[in-house]
Parts: sequence; C-alpha cells; structure tokens
Amino acid sequence: FKPWRGLIETYRPYLPVTEATPVITLLEGNTPLIPVPYISQQIGRGVKVFVKYDGLNPTGSFKDRGMTMAISKAKEEGAKAVICASTGNTSAAAAAYARRAGMRAFVIIPDGYVALGKLAQALLYGAEVIAIEGNFDEALNVVRNIAETYPVKLVNSVNPYRLEGQKTAAFEIVDVLGNAPDWLCIPVGNAGNISAYWMGFCQYHSLGKSDKLPKMMGFQAAGAAPFILGKPISNPQTLATAIRIGNPASWDKAWAAKEASLGEFNAVTDEEILDAYGILASQEGIFCEPASAASVAGLLKVKDKIPHEITIVCVLTGNGLKDPDCAIKHSNNQVKSGVKPDLSIVAEAMGF
Ligand code: F0G
Repeated sequence: FKPWRGLIETYRPYLPVTEATPVITLLEGNTPLIPVPYISQQIGRGVKVFVKYDGLNPTGSFKDRGMTMAISKAKEEGAKAVICASTGNTSAAAAAYARRAGMRAFVIIPDGYVALGKLAQALLYGAEVIAIEGNFDEALNVVRNIAETYPVKLVNSVNPYRLEGQKTAAFEIVDVLGNAPDWLCIPVGNAGNISAYWMGFCQYHSLGKSDKLPKMMGFQAAGAAPFILGKPISNPQTLATAIRIGNPASWDKAWAAKEASLGEFNAVTDEEILDAYGILASQEGIFCEPASAASVAGLLKVKDKIPHEITIVCVLTGNGLKDPDCAIKHSNNQVKSGVKPDLSIVAEAMGF
C-alpha cells in the first residue's frame, strides 16, 4: 500500500516544479473514474461510459488541481496575496490553498450568481470576498488589471500553472484505463479545463502512455455559448452559474484542442442539463453540480452519432453539495413533512 501524496508528488516529473518549490497540497487528485451503467445502456451500441468525478477533490471541484500548482508557485515566488475572479469554485479553491500557504486570498464574484456552498466555503476559509455588480467576464477584467498594479498574484486559469495542475486529470484517466478514452465530454466555461485536459492527453501520448488521443467534446450552456455562436456574448445566462461566462479567456487554446482532436463544441439547454443532473443522481447515485452535468447532457444530446464499442469519459467538475438550492428547487421529489412519530402513521406515510 502506497499512500496518495497529492498530484504534485505523484506527477512531479511532468510538472514545472523543482526542489525549491514549496508544495502546498491538500492531497487533491486521485479522484474516481466511475462506470455509469444506466447511461451506457441508454446509449447502447456496446459503448462504455465513465465519469471522472472531480467533485471529490478537497474543496469539491477540479479547481484544486490547478490551485495546488498555482499557489505552490506563488509561494515559491514570494507572493503574500492572491486574487481571482470566480463563479464560485475557483474562489473556494484559491481561498483554501492560499490560507494554507499563509497568504491573503481576494476573490471577486458576480453578485447574486454564486451557489451557496461555494460562498460558504470562501468565507469560512477566510477569503476576502468582494461581490461586483457585473458578471464573471467583467470580474476577470478587473482582477487582471489589479494584478498588474498591486502586489497580488493572479490565480485564474490565465495563470499557466493552473492548467499544468489541471492536466493531471487526463493522466489519471489514462493511468486507470490503460489508454486514452475515445471521447472526452467536458463542460466549458472559461475554457481552461478543456485546454488543460488536451495538454495532459498530448503529453502522455508523446510519452508513449497511450496509443491514441480522445476527441474533445466541449459543451456550453445554451444561454452562455460563445463558442457555438462564434463570438463572445455580453449577457450570458444559465442556471448552471459555474459556466455563466460569455468571453472565455482560453478561447484560442480550446479551439486548437477541438480542431486538433477532430472534436466538437455544442450547446445544451438548462432543461437538458437538469435532466442529466437528475439521471446522474437518481440512476447512478452520483451528485454533481448543474454545470458538471452539461458533459452528460451533451453526450446524451449527440447519442445518435456515437460510434459502436467506444470508451467515453464525461468529466464531472464539481460536487452537487456546492449548490443545494438547485437540487431542492428542481427535484421532483418532495419531503413528506408533519408526520407524527407513530409506527402506523409512519408506515402509512411510507405507503404500506
Ligand atoms: N464546471 C465547474 C463546476 C466550474 O466551476 C467551471 C468553472 C467549469 C465547469 C468550467 O471550466 O472555466 O475551465 O471551462 N468555474 C470557474 C470558477 C469559472 O470561477 O469557478 P472552465
């Protein structure tokens, strides 16, 4: 038995760290690649579908992979404070890792559009939270300017160490499957994660760890789908607040990944996202946040053109507990309340 030591130690030869880098880790990574038999059966054709459940990272999202790298490098460079714009998950991860490293964490969020769990995390981890009257894209503009003027390190995914950390999710998938999958389905917001996965698959492929590269299938919410419209949008809208983004910072990298992998971008409606979110929870026992379910919603949307016998991985980027309001509001299931603590009354409420 070898205990997991976090992704920097595990993948050290493939990451831009040296002996001088202080490793700030919460033992992130090593998340499960879970088979989803109900969804596989819906697709049929001998297709095998797995989900990479990155909601099981220490702060509940894939952002921890990027943050262990970004914060370790910021610490190495002597930073005393970090800043990010965020729809919520980046802020939770930045706050946790920065505070662990003894740094201040400033997070700039779009007022009213951050899920409750994420806000709760940022506050308790000790971030200094500033809500702006504007959306994520506007928040990102502000923090980019602030990081150029004031002594704070930017830890959004435009910080190259973020993608270096996030690419390790692709390594883990190849390590488990023994090869790359045929398709990778992934939600797209600011477009950093799809770019990071592609980096990881290409790096592992060039090291001979896989003999193929996956088709990169990126899915945006229909109300926040600049890649499908072919241009940035100024007023993105979706209930999947994590990907409520109109002007992705990693535009060019994500397009290059799609082109090189012969992949596709597609949009999924909020209704399709909620359907996939419900299926994952009620049929597979997997609770992810709404934005994450966009990967499965997208897969189900294109199901008629999936080749036979292929292996598909859908990335579930965040934990369902991040957004309890959405779960309660959109579940068909109701609590039976006001039931007296009596055997026959409870039995009756159970339908016996
Ligand atoms: N899924 C979740 C749960 C996210 O939080 C994000 C991005 C994405 C998918 C999209 O990833 O931006 O790399 O394309 N969240 C950022 C944040 C924007 O601030 O937490 P992406």
